[in-house]
Amino acid sequence: MPTLRPRVRAGPVSSRSRYPAPAGTREELTRLRADLVEAGYTTDHLAELLGPLASAALHRDQPLAARRVLHRSTDPAAVLVRLLVLGDAVSAEELSSALPRTGVEGVLQLGLAVPADPDAGAPGLPPLEGTCDLRPYGDDQHDWWVASDLSELALGGPLPTDHVLGVGGASTTLAAWSPRPQVSRVLDLGTGCGVQALHASGHADRVVATDLSARALEFATFTAGLNGLDLDLRQGSLLAPVATEQFDLVISNPPFVITPRRDGVPLFEYRDGGAPGDTIVATLVRDLAGVLAPGGIAQLLGNWELRAGEEWTEHVGEWVAGTGLDAWVIQRETQDAAEYAETWARDGGHRPGTPEFEELYAAWLDDFAARGIERVGFGIITLQRPLTERLPFCDLEEVSGPVAQPAGPAVLAGLRARTWLAEHTDAELLAVPWSVASDVTEERIGRPGEPDPMVIQVRQGGGLRRTVRLDTVAAGLVGASDGELTAEQILGGIAVLTEQDVDGLRAGVLATLRTLIADGLLR
Ligand SMILES: C[S@@+](CC[C@H](N)C(=O)[O-])C[C@H]1O[C@@H](n2cnc3c(N)ncnc32)[C@H](O)[C@@H]1O
Repeated sequence: MPTLRPRVRAGPVSSRSRYPAPAGTREELTRLRADLVEAGYTTDHLAELLGPLASAALHRDQPLAARRVLHRSTDPAAVLVRLLVLGDAVSAEELSSALPRTGVEGVLQLGLAVPADPDAGAPGLPPLEGTCDLRPYGDDQHDWWVASDLSELALGGPLPTDHVLGVGGASTTLAAWSPRPQVSRVLDLGTGCGVQALHASGHADRVVATDLSARALEFATFTAGLNGLDLDLRQGSLLAPVATEQFDLVISNPPFVITPRRDGVPLFEYRDGGAPGDTIVATLVRDLAGVLAPGGIAQLLGNWELRAGEEWTEHVGEWVAGTGLDAWVIQRETQDAAEYAETWARDGGHRPGTPEFEELYAAWLDDFAARGIERVGFGIITLQRPLTERLPFCDLEEVSGPVAQPAGPAVLAGLRARTWLAEHTDAELLAVPWSVASDVTEERIGRPGEPDPMVIQVRQGGGLRRTVRLDTVAAGLVGASDGELTAEQILGGIAVLTEQDVDGLRAGVLATLRTLIADGLLR
């Protein structure tokens, strides 16, 4: 009979996690991987098993619908979701038939579960309950598994401060927006459970993943081993573990949450770097130049503080100025001080209406009021070390609507287009025979019965779904851009037809032409 020896780490309960991160040898992880494959523990199969209702509820951290569906199922993947996503107890028999190679003893040895009630004294093996979250995750080409701490829905209360987050909304946002050129070296800074490193391993020869948290690195080690990947994992703060190295791509979902620094406000390692205000993101932006190879790209998520009367572009523009890096920053949304306080007071597992929630909410409002913060911006910062001697570009813009997913290819194309623009003169760009991208449509809006439109705009169907307003000259230029005539030749034709001075037309249209090229409406 297998020995049921839980690997429980003793320690303070409230602020530190109760169980150690899972760990296994290469052979143990290979066996587990074979079991997970055979059990059909994939994103597609779970979507089928749960159905749209329970899947969506689970996504909102509501487990009840999933429990009702899975309770009736004999599918091995259902047993695994109950144990490793919901943190529920499953019988030893169910578990050994869901993971036949690993078995109950193997699961205990890996640290994925403990006996639900070791003192029960009933004959036979006691049921087991999950100690960590292990769930399938993938993209178009990969099926992976990601290990992290059990989520708030399984823990059913406030999170410990050393909690290691699983794949969340910010993780998938960054994964979707990341440019993915095939490169030699990638750095995933603040790797947590290792999700960005998984993606990076698909298009890099070598992935270095760092984290301040030793516990996070233990989870990332498990995630990497289970997926058969060789990650170079290092512990340390921000760029310290890689200070003398260079990377072609740096990806980071850093601990960017702006948090009041006062007693009673917990410092959650997964979201809070311990620095005042938004300085952790500012520091990273300032220092990233030191680890980027020439032509290297860095992309990170961030929050930024917005004070009354201050434009976000001024504040974030100051971070970028003087770095020598190209910058393309997209603000996706803003929250007012109260919305931000509600989001983050609730995020650690505190329920609205409880005294703890009210105290945290007040702490955020006090901090923002004392420092004059009215709103907080959220967005995606993409930086690039120029490959040639030239002035860096700095493009700060708002894209608040839906974009084609994943947005990464549009980011990479936009970065390439902006680089081309920064390296070429106006005369050179006018000498190109541009053509209108196939996903662009034109809209003319006017009063009924009026022959001339009040507004002409072109709209991009894919990419970042940009809309650009055109005057009649720009509309004429775009309309005639079929890849045959250069922009200069088209403007010459418009000048003759409209009896205008071509120098004036050129000067008036250049800024719009640059926007259309940067955003990929003209190629
Ligand atoms: C928001 S989580 C991101 C996790 C994962 N990369 C993802 O995309 O889901 C931020 C990570 O940064 C780590 N972290 C916190 N402070 C850090 C620091 N000063 N230097 C490096 N990593 C840090 C946390 O432990 C956590 O794993």
